[in-house]
Amino acid sequence: MKIGILGAGIVAQTIAKHVLPFGHQITLSNSRGPDSLAELVKELGPGAIAGTPQQATQQDLVVLAVNWPSVQAALFVVPNWKGRLLVDATNRVAGYTPLTLGDISGRTSSEIVADLAPGAKVVKAFNSVPMSWISDFSSSKPRTVLFLSGDDNDAKRSVAELVEQVGLTAVDLGSLAVGGRLQQLGGPLAGIRLTFTERFAL
Ligand SMILES: NC(=O)c1ccc[n+]([C@@H]2O[C@H](COP(=O)([O-])OP(=O)(O)OC[C@H]3O[C@@H](n4cnc5c(N)ncnc54)[C@H](OP(=O)(O)O)[C@@H]3O)[C@@H](O)[C@H]2O)c1
Repeated sequence: MKIGILGAGIVAQTIAKHVLPFGHQITLSNSRGPDSLAELVKELGPGAIAGTPQQATQQDLVVLAVNWPSVQAALFVVPNWKGRLLVDATNRVAGYTPLTLGDISGRTSSEIVADLAPGAKVVKAFNSVPMSWISDFSSSKPRTVLFLSGDDNDAKRSVAELVEQVGLTAVDLGSLAVGGRLQQLGGPLAGIRLTFTERFAL
């Protein structure tokens, strides 16, 4: 799969390290241009590419991995999101000192993201676990639960397949309105760290 990421920080790099060993191609981007990412993609190794945000959004699957105040600017690089698969990994942190949350007027943060990317098939994923919790990239890593939500079942299936392929366990929580609320920052499943030590077959 060709994956593009809006962002090249902690989330982008963690996802890259999970998917690269499986032969996926990943284009990272930031607001400063591809040259600023040359060293990073060299470190990540074959399959990692430094691109512009526009190039990142032309891939099969696009991950939104910027901080909340940059969401609108990052999404506006695409004039038409129609039919594109967009994974929303963001949390609505407006500031860290002190911790303040962005206003979402009673909706879920991924519904706001979906409004800013009209026509995109938005799947919320990767937001609810600290990246340090899924930073074991060995093949013997514990199977960690990764929640996802969205309104398009095919899109959720594609993301779930990728998540399962890299050794995590995808749990579908439902729509952006219902599941998104459970897994978003402040929701009951945000920050929950679940791993399987053993799987039981019925
Ligand atoms: N860290 C975690 O453990 C974690 C876990 C789950 C979810 N999250 C959420 O995931 C999002 C990203 O977190 P992070 O920790 O990866 O943040 P980060 O390390 O600060 O990375 C943010 C990245 O976004 C880039 N960026 C800024 N504006 C951009 C734009 N307009 N277009 C493209 N890229 C742009 C930044 O690069 P430049 O500034 O150089 O442009 C940077 O590479 C946040 O919403 C966070 O709440 C974080």
